[in-house]
Amino acid sequence: MEKLTGLKKIKTAVFISGTGSNLKNIIKFSKIKKSPISIDLIVSNTSKAKGLSFANQFKIKKKIFNFTNFKNTEKNILLLLKKEKIKFICLAGFMKILSKDFIKKFDGKIINIHPSLLPKYKGLNTHNRAIKNKDKFAGCTVHHVTAKLDSGKIILQKKIKITANDNPTSLAKKILKQEHKLYPASIIKLFS
Ligand code: GRF
Repeated sequence: MEKLTGLKKIKTAVFISGTGSNLKNIIKFSKIKKSPISIDLIVSNTSKAKGLSFANQFKIKKKIFNFTNFKNTEKNILLLLKKEKIKFICLAGFMKILSKDFIKKFDGKIINIHPSLLPKYKGLNTHNRAIKNKDKFAGCTVHHVTAKLDSGKIILQKKIKITANDNPTSLAKKILKQEHKLYPASIIKLFS
């Protein structure tokens, strides 16, 4: 990954579908001096994503794409990314799977945060699955995005203990707290 030279931050887009707590956290991180990135665009596949409110709050450009025609939508997103000079994408609770073609055509890096200790529990319902299997540990992972779902090279991972009292909701809450530390740390690692 390119090293940071001078003061210019890398123009970044965050893709979301939901609450956007990671988005908010990344925006706040991007404003500190040691952040290698600035957040210049928020993309969502749904106008219902609560996290879109952070676009207004932090005065960041937002764009909603409905994916009814997947190929066309990806083409339009790529055009927008080019127009906005976006060089880096953070997926943060984005519920669409980007195509191999999109990943190849985007001339930059894409990373994602996933709420499990990858390679365990790719896909959905990770907390449920960890508890059902009586795992002793759960966690979160930031990884590069490749054409294969949740399978790209791991950048950083955080492990936490599952206690006897944990249920999927309490576990999700604990892990989310860790996600908010892991995502900025991973971005720093990636660019240093
Ligand atoms: C997080 O748990 C993230 O790991 C997963 O989706 C959730 C998004 O949460 N991919 P938020 O929208 O950032 O609050």
